[in-house]
Amino acid sequence: MNTLLRIDSSVRTENSFSRSLGDYLMKEWKEKNPDGLIIERDLARQPVPQLNEQTVNAFFSEIPEAESTRLSDELINEIYQANEILITSPMYNFGIPSSLKAYFDLVVRTRKTFTENITRKGLLENKKAYVISSMGGILQEKRNPLEIHITQLLNHMGITDICYFPLDGTVIETRIAELVTFQQAEIVKQFNE
Ligand SMILES: Cc1cc2nc3c(=O)[nH]c(=O)nc-3n(C[C@H](O)[C@H](O)[C@H](O)COP(=O)(O)O)c2cc1C
Repeated sequence: MNTLLRIDSSVRTENSFSRSLGDYLMKEWKEKNPDGLIIERDLARQPVPQLNEQTVNAFFSEIPEAESTRLSDELINEIYQANEILITSPMYNFGIPSSLKAYFDLVVRTRKTFTENITRKGLLENKKAYVISSMGGILQEKRNPLEIHITQLLNHMGITDICYFPLDGTVIETRIAELVTFQQAEIVKQFNE
């Protein structure tokens, strides 16, 4: 069964550009996958804890204490279960939200999502990801810093098939309305190729 894992990270549960475009993508996905399963991880409504010493020690232990890795195991099982992953991320202080970083700190894990040998091969194979990013300012650099960071994290786990739908300049009302329409059309194209 096709399974989409959706991960949201904007603290705004309403009037969020990234969530709203995420809803649009999910609607298109559902149309293409009427029998598909959607798993939702909302990191604002249900934040995951910051990594701590006990958890890191358990990650590197031969026989980890089950309780220390319980949440990480659960999140990793979810990623394995999904064949498509949607991540929505606003820019907060030039980077991804700390909630999303905390999530990745629990799923980017040696022997579970990448190999521990020197080649560090990602273990998540045959998965496709969609990355929706939003930021108040207009993107100045050629490459979007949110996309660069999220791509590094996904690539490290073996996910290389990634589509991007960026929304920049969300504070400029006239511009963002046009950009949202443009990205919606890109999403439709993506699901009808
Ligand atoms: C705490 C905070 C920090 C922000 N930092 C930045 C920033 O560094 N650069 C930027 O362009 N916009 C910044 N913004 C604006 C958000 O990126 C913008 O409002 C975006 O639309 C948020 O995504 P959302 O609409 O999905 O909630 C910040 C907003 C907040 C609340």
